[in-house]
Amino acid sequence: MSHFLDLKDFTKLQLRAMLDGASSRKKSRINLPKGAVDSDLPLKGKAIALVFERPSTRTRFSFEMAIRQLGGEVFTVSGAEMQLGRGETIADTARVVSRYVDGVMLRAKAHETMLEFASAASIPVINGLTNRTHPTQVLADVLTLEEHRGAIDTQRVAWVGDGNNVCASWIEAVGVLGGSLRIGSPDSLRPGAEFMNWATQKKADVEVMLSPEDAVQQADCVVTDAWVSMHDEDIENRHNLLKSYQVNQALMKHAAKDALFMHCLPAHRNEEVTDDIMDGPHSVVFDEAENRLHAQKAILLNCFGKL
Ligand code: CP
Ligand code: NVA
Repeated sequence: MSHFLDLKDFTKLQLRAMLDGASSRKKSRINLPKGAVDSDLPLKGKAIALVFERPSTRTRFSFEMAIRQLGGEVFTVSGAEMQLGRGETIADTARVVSRYVDGVMLRAKAHETMLEFASAASIPVINGLTNRTHPTQVLADVLTLEEHRGAIDTQRVAWVGDGNNVCASWIEAVGVLGGSLRIGSPDSLRPGAEFMNWATQKKADVEVMLSPEDAVQQADCVVTDAWVSMHDEDIENRHNLLKSYQVNQALMKHAAKDALFMHCLPAHRNEEVTDDIMDGPHSVVFDEAENRLHAQKAILLNCFGKL
């Protein structure tokens, strides 16, 4: 049994196997209707619960369809409907749930909840986003980058804006898989020191800078995310701090001519990114969203030793 909690927990070989598995399963389904199963039914007989303490469109739909296509059973529950909200401990909940299902994907408000749940569970647990990281998203992002541009270790990625949970998983992806990452963030919204210290220790090519123009200089791929994440409260302050970090035509001019634009979505159009970039030739945001499905399949198969 193996959890999928953060990208830093895996070796390069393990993440490469997930990326390759996602890519080959994606190719094998070309022209199949979305409701059709993968013929080898690798999750037949497995039941997996998706538990959400926060809203979701992509993570929910992609995991539900991934599990169905792999031949497994799936159901979704909101954390608020569970006794968790009435004070049952996280560890007791994990022990109970482990008696009913074969695996859990958890979108938790607090990273600590996810770690505590995983350490008490006797079944695989997948991190479907916390306040600190979003590893399933970034595995799909790397898959998308590699489909369009080739191996990540040859790529210059720029992150612009809030040094948030998705940014943290990008730091871990580059730390394990290679490539370079330039992060342009206001001082107070830089990624947490624990992620940067880890990157330094891994000798990863990750740098944080104040200027968004410097960060995107000659980048092969420019990535951004919402100015206000689901766990954030200081909305007005963030809008003020981040307004000069909008990804627009002027900023994209500093990147390589054929640079990609990525965003995990949901996007707040004309805040962190303009319509013309979202809908323009640089944008691969909907390929990125589709790849959540293909990446989830490889993540699930890795958890069950079937990759
Ligand atoms: N990108 C992402 O995780 O989207 P959802 O919040 O809709 O799942
Ligand atoms: N950073 C965003 C990602 C949403 C998928 C959030 O945590 O709300």
